[in-house]
Amino acid sequence: MARILITSALPYINGIKHLGNLVGSQLPADLYARYMRARGHEVMFICATDEHGTPAELAAAKAGEEVSAYCARMHAVQAELARGFGLSFDHFGRSSSPQNRDLTQHLAARLAKAGLIEQVSESQVYSPADGRFLPDRYITGTCPACGYENARGDQCENCTKQLDPTDLINPRSAISGATDLEVRATRHLFLRQSALRARLDAWIDSQQGWPVLTTSIAKKWLHDGDGLQDRGITRDLDWGIPVQFDGAPWEGMEDKVFYVWFDAPIEYIAATAEWAEAQGLSDAAWRRWWRTDAGADDVRYVQFMGKDNVPFHTLSFPATLIGANFDGTEPWKLVDYIKSFNYLNYDGGQFSTSQGRGVFMDQALEILPGDYWRWWLLSHAPESSDSEFTWENFQAGVNKDLADVLGNLVSRVTKFCRSKFGETVPEGGAPGAREAALRAALEGRLRAYERHMEAMEVRKSAAELRALWVLGNEYLQEAAPWAAFKNDPAQAAMQIRLALNLIRVYAVISQPFIPDAAARIMAALGSGDWSWPDDLAGALEVLPPGQGFMVPDVLFAKIGDEQRAEWAARFSGQRAEA
Ligand code: 2FM
Ligand code: ZN
Repeated sequence: MARILITSALPYINGIKHLGNLVGSQLPADLYARYMRARGHEVMFICATDEHGTPAELAAAKAGEEVSAYCARMHAVQAELARGFGLSFDHFGRSSSPQNRDLTQHLAARLAKAGLIEQVSESQVYSPADGRFLPDRYITGTCPACGYENARGDQCENCTKQLDPTDLINPRSAISGATDLEVRATRHLFLRQSALRARLDAWIDSQQGWPVLTTSIAKKWLHDGDGLQDRGITRDLDWGIPVQFDGAPWEGMEDKVFYVWFDAPIEYIAATAEWAEAQGLSDAAWRRWWRTDAGADDVRYVQFMGKDNVPFHTLSFPATLIGANFDGTEPWKLVDYIKSFNYLNYDGGQFSTSQGRGVFMDQALEILPGDYWRWWLLSHAPESSDSEFTWENFQAGVNKDLADVLGNLVSRVTKFCRSKFGETVPEGGAPGAREAALRAALEGRLRAYERHMEAMEVRKSAAELRALWVLGNEYLQEAAPWAAFKNDPAQAAMQIRLALNLIRVYAVISQPFIPDAAARIMAALGSGDWSWPDDLAGALEVLPPGQGFMVPDVLFAKIGDEQRAEWAARFSGQRAEA
């Protein structure tokens, strides 16, 4: 049994996430967590809301709420939506927690002791009209790298380039739209990541088998152009973690807070501490996941994120943790594998939170249960390239894969059994050559499915799972128990007993993708045996003759053409303000 630490990129608190956000981090992370638990491993699956910085302040101002109240409300909303999608976090924390404040201040103190923090006088954009500095997203303008006109002051969402507000062409205030901006001097703390460049480079080189998407982005940041730059880790904002060091004020930094990207990844650790507290456990309980001197040396740590998050996770966050261990007394656990994703597009364009374009998590759950979305999104995850959501494609995926292949099999087998043998697993004769061939085919595909799931090959896993469902359909088609029943009821009974058992195996192996449907199948079969079919032959005999079952309600309803057209029209424009 291994110990696996899994984190999903933290969703910003500013509003409800769209399906592109979901499939880029939280959903595949959940798939992996569920699979690893199903295989008997000890899993710690952590997520949280990313509550600091300009996104939170701007959204709260727009909603006319205090930032803290806004964050508390939106955290509850996001947690509820996560439940609706079956996201099985061990803890869904908040980056505004006391644990994160303490740990962020502590790590900053360590970095200062290591000589990795310096105070720098920088030029920042100041808006006389707004009476304040405009850091990060408080300013928008044209990206100097790609020409995108709505780039934000911290990063261009079009080309992923990290920016400084002063880089933008034609900058304007995101608060007032003012363009009469000035550049003024202000003092900030900088993390000297450039001093760690060789260490980071060597660490990245030592990683085995990282996805190309991950390493290419990291290497680009290390070597291209101006290379790894020192970054400001403080901001002139009210909302955030006060710039103090182990609780003591830092001269000249009294009215400043840490930059959101400094404290957000630290929340992965702090959220585990929140988990320990919520469980009534001691600090040792979270430290055994995060400190290699407290038991984390045998932990495998996997992160999930969209490609725009890769620079922060391959460079900035490791720089924080490596730097904090300058004297060897704080060995923090570094990530072992980063699974990153491209973008999911929406119907010929981009999903966009700022423009309210696409389908958002709350809307998705209003029209269909989580499993429908989980299946389609995961089976179309933007792994090797960007992928696209269209309503036609969604309809086809749901109708063919879920309704026709899996749902129909479950319904045919259970209904046929009820009508001919009653609502108990029938006895029947001994399996023959056809059943042996089915077992062999299932065995081959099941092991391939396991390999893809281990490797976090999401689309390949989905394709293999679907192929496993198809094998059951093909078997039933050929065996045709409804025909066999007339002359040889014992033969038909054996086939149906096998099929009922196969359906239970499907529930077990499909659970990481479609947990609700899997649970409904298990309940209908009256089984609580979720053990993984390592021994497939044995697993196909778990339901003994005589065991009662029930025909489940329709597992997956088909999406009709009218329905599809109605949804396509409803979600074609911009989302109305929440
Ligand atoms: O890009 C984003 O949505 C960020 N909120 C991700 C943060 S991940 C982690 F570092 F906290
Ligand atoms: Zn750009």
